[in-house]
Amino acid sequence: TDKRTTVPSILARKGGRPIVALTAYSALTARMVDAHADVILVGDSLAMVEHGMDSTLGLTLDVMILHGRSVMRGARKALVVVDMPFGSYEESREQAFRNAARLLGETGCTAVKLEGGVGMADTIAFLTARGIPVMAHIGLTPQSVMTIGGFRTQGRQEADWPAIEADAAAVAEAGAFSVVLEGLVEPLAAKITGAVPIPTIGIGASAQCDGQILVLEDMLGFSPRVPRFVRRFGGLGEAADKAIAEYARAVADRSFPGAAEVYSMKA
Ligand code: KIV
Ligand code: NA
Repeated sequence: TDKRTTVPSILARKGGRPIVALTAYSALTARMVDAHADVILVGDSLAMVEHGMDSTLGLTLDVMILHGRSVMRGARKALVVVDMPFGSYEESREQAFRNAARLLGETGCTAVKLEGGVGMADTIAFLTARGIPVMAHIGLTPQSVMTIGGFRTQGRQEADWPAIEADAAAVAEAGAFSVVLEGLVEPLAAKITGAVPIPTIGIGASAQCDGQILVLEDMLGFSPRVPRFVRRFGGLGEAADKAIAEYARAVADRSFPGAAEVYSMKA
């Protein structure tokens, strides 16, 4: 629709009003987030948060498309970005285009996100030149968990900075319309934000970023263990536990269903 947030309007937020981004994996949560966010990401964190996997490596393109379609049914205003899953874009820029085109075509989303900096710049340029807006993702890139050896904050040593700054410059130069900075020490995230011409969206990064993103279930308080960068804005995990416990008690003592919750015969 013509009321949906556009790629140029996100680009125009560089250095201005912070971009509000959150994840959603379904129509139910997308509807809630759409009321307040500029960007909804159908993140491949879906693997761990919703499907109980140990990493994001196990998701297929078809699963991302299923969830992307669900989110699109709930989101009217926000710009929806769908993560390209592990194995769907790294092989070649042609493979990336083919699968990104499926994500846009089969879900109706506006953009894709993929992980990588200098090494993915050629692919990002190939996609953007062919009508596929790309959000880049650098720093802590969870699809590389096996090579990194864990979910580790990046840039702790100043010697590591130039490579990460080069990643940021490369994805901007390649035409990405924004870049997620994940798990970077604060001064590096701030420095990159000042250096690149595209909006940076931080997660475990810096308040200086041009926007912020969190995993919805983490910030709502559903996730039992979260990294230190997550602020729990709600306690929905506790609320849900209380509600389910009350339901279990009411079933056990036959106080549910009550008189108003059952059907009677026609008079
Ligand atoms: O998969 C995801 O949710 C993400 C964000 C946390 C940036 O990539
Ligand atoms: Na992701």
